[in-house]
Amino acid sequence: MALLIRNGEIVTVGSRVQADIYAENETITRIGKNLDAPPNTEIIDATGKLVFPGFIDPHVHVYLPFMATFAKDTHQTASIAALIGGTTTYIEMCCPNRNDDALEGYQLWKSKADGKSACDYAFHMSVTKFVKETESQLRQIVADGTASFKIFLAYKNFFGVDDGEMYQTLELAKRLGVIVTAHCENAELVARLQQKLIADGKTGPEWHEPSRPESVEAEGTGRFATFVENTGATGYVVHLSCEKALHAALTAKSRGVKLSVESVLPHLLLDKPYAERPGVEGMKHVMSPPLRAKHNQDVLWNALAHGSVDTIGTDHCPFDMEQKLLGKDSFVTIPNGIPGIEDRVNLLYTNGVKRGRLNLDRFVDAASTRAAKLFGLFPRKGTIAVDSDADIVVYDTNYRGVVSAKSQHTNNDYNGFEGMEIEGRPSVVTVRGKVQVREGKFVGERGRGKLLKREPTHF
Ligand code: URP
Ligand code: ZN
Ligand code: ZN
Repeated sequence: MALLIRNGEIVTVGSRVQADIYAENETITRIGKNLDAPPNTEIIDATGKLVFPGFIDPHVHVYLPFMATFAKDTHQTASIAALIGGTTTYIEMCCPNRNDDALEGYQLWKSKADGKSACDYAFHMSVTKFVKETESQLRQIVADGTASFKIFLAYKNFFGVDDGEMYQTLELAKRLGVIVTAHCENAELVARLQQKLIADGKTGPEWHEPSRPESVEAEGTGRFATFVENTGATGYVVHLSCEKALHAALTAKSRGVKLSVESVLPHLLLDKPYAERPGVEGMKHVMSPPLRAKHNQDVLWNALAHGSVDTIGTDHCPFDMEQKLLGKDSFVTIPNGIPGIEDRVNLLYTNGVKRGRLNLDRFVDAASTRAAKLFGLFPRKGTIAVDSDADIVVYDTNYRGVVSAKSQHTNNDYNGFEGMEIEGRPSVVTVRGKVQVREGKFVGERGRGKLLKREPTHF
């Protein structure tokens, strides 16, 4: 069925215009004033509302075997949560570990999403070792349309690569035109600091941050940047959390290193004392890099406003309270991660745009357009234009609500942002021209989501 979205204020990077959008066959075909529409067209009145391109979360975990357990979501639950929050595309980290075969892992991750997701999706392919078959396997994966890699400098002996493997991955990525995303913390230092703290009887969640201090992240960020520089590759730092690491990234960028920076919702809105709460309350807020001292939040918001933090993701990673309690005797075994896929857009809009920290242009860029450009999805995704996919968010800026686990759709029994106010939410969300969400309710087609094939663009 064709779709006409009438009279909203369409917000894209560099443009705000009052107009109608007409879509058919999954695609936007006309944008203009007073558009006509054939009978049977679904008409949505967007008067008084903002109309955004579908939002893109560039960093989520859905299927994730990690820290002796599995993240709780399926693509059914994660995609519905994403859509209710205005995210119409997510990029999942495909994370086989060092003992797994990369190609088998890639097929497994694909099978978990196939036919299950209600929104569109893609993968970053993790390279967790570099052995003789790795190059040919990665070539097959890129040929299959997965044009971004992920490396972990942290998580020694599990996901983590050594410097040699990082070099080989970046060197191949440069030849293939593929961007490499990286978790930047020094694995050796984390392991040593963890051992020392535990030996001193410091076992609670409040010791997680001291085991991975800012300098450890800054070292990882600087080292990754140096390897990107010397291979000529294109890099993307995921979940950058603090001023020291930002300094390392921006210093590299200022000497011409091709590097982009992502920060994630928890580091913008939550600080270290959340993880210092006693017992499971603290454990709920254990992620890596850890929640930082408060002053880092202002640094990240400023960098975001100026575009030196490029994108905002979530690092959505749901472990429930029972799983978090696996770490009750030692913070080292608390499953790392905080969910947020459903709340990213509303909390960014509220705390960014409404609080005057972010203009609408940067909001839409950081939450949608820039990820589309970096990861080979633009202009199919990340904008509202003729020939783009009709992924549209009609946004109600008059809505008022509160984030709560009681009303969330992600499969978890807590919400790390519990009690935070939101001033705005999606009123209607479409995926390729089909209405999937109305007023906070999923009303669409489960399994509608497609795996997005992407071409390498970073030569
Ligand atoms: O704590 C986190 N971030 N958990 C998910 C794995 C990762 O490092 O992204
Ligand atoms: Zn990470
Ligand atoms: Zn992650």
